[in-house]
Amino acid sequence: MTPTINGKEVTVGPPLWLLAEVTYACPLHCVFCYNPVDYTQHGPELTTQEWIKVLRDARAAGSVQCGFSGGEPLVRDDLETLVAEAHQLGFYTNLLTSGIGFTPERAKALKEAGLDHVQLSFQDSTRQLNREGLMPSREQLQRAERVTNEYREKLGDKLRIFFVVPDYYETRPKKCMNGWGNIFLTITPDGSALPCHTAKMIKHLEFPNVKNMSVKDIWYESESFNHYRGDAWMKDPCRTCEDKEKDLGGCRCQALMLTGDAANADPVCDKSQHHQVVLDAVAFAQIPDTQRVEVKPLVFRDPINSRKLSSVQS
Ligand SMILES: C[S@@+](CC[C@H](N)C(=O)[O-])C[C@H]1O[C@@H](n2cnc3c(N)ncnc32)[C@H](O)[C@@H]1O
Ligand code: SF4
Ligand code: SF4
Repeated sequence: MTPTINGKEVTVGPPLWLLAEVTYACPLHCVFCYNPVDYTQHGPELTTQEWIKVLRDARAAGSVQCGFSGGEPLVRDDLETLVAEAHQLGFYTNLLTSGIGFTPERAKALKEAGLDHVQLSFQDSTRQLNREGLMPSREQLQRAERVTNEYREKLGDKLRIFFVVPDYYETRPKKCMNGWGNIFLTITPDGSALPCHTAKMIKHLEFPNVKNMSVKDIWYESESFNHYRGDAWMKDPCRTCEDKEKDLGGCRCQALMLTGDAANADPVCDKSQHHQVVLDAVAFAQIPDTQRVEVKPLVFRDPINSRKLSSVQS
């Protein structure tokens, strides 16, 4: 199936960026974490040999960068073996970690295995974090940018600091994942293949599994990876929008979560008929915490909640 935009065929390139989510287990329970809360319901983790096959298969399909993530990837004691295999296959390797379990011994072993890059996350231990808690006010955002600029000036070329504006403060969405099924391929701990790490929330799509389909077939042939490629799936205002090639309608998951339909325009866009939902969230963010009346119960991502949630769903 060849996707089209404005009637012209679009060439589908290889899955350049492979994200190997080797486990959902994690010693931390960050409340904002995008990983599924019902993770105890998911199938068993891929074995070392199954992961090695994924790495070989993905490399053969043209992947060049491999990120090891999770959950906390350091929970797996075969991580060094997997990094060594990825390195030997020619991948640029990247570890995404909270640093829990990143002992000097493991750091040394991972370096010897050929690890190229570490993304160390500083997680907050505060329990009161959800979208409402995380969303900065305009004033906080301006202050953060000011402080960032001060440090940029102070540190010069020693450090490059990126400042990402939360998209709720924009009027046009980001080209999410650089386009659905364009460069990014996530393999979840049980082998499901996704075009982005949260795509499983789109329930009408059936995502393939590396246990019964090759990475190449998943990428080029599967219905779910082709579903939101091109513009055939779009509704108005995206379908007739002159900017559709720039952002491809934004994020499918955000559209689903905020409008109930993944084929709608990402409501960050001010052309979306649902844009008010974003404006309301921004307006709410301007209210000081002490004056907020609605307090939603938070569900923490831990084994007890996961089992509870799984029993409700099954
Ligand atoms: C899911 S974690 C997995 C690796 C490791 N446990 C860690 O925390 O770095 C990967 C990265 O995603 C970030 N992250 C988690 N949930 C997120 C969310 N809802 N939105 C944006 N980033 C998120 C984390 O802060 C972390 O930097
Ligand atoms: S450290 Fe936090 S963000 Fe990373 S996987 Fe664990 S719970 Fe999620
Ligand atoms: S209408 Fe759709 S394609 Fe046009 S700018 Fe908004 S999100 Fe992008």
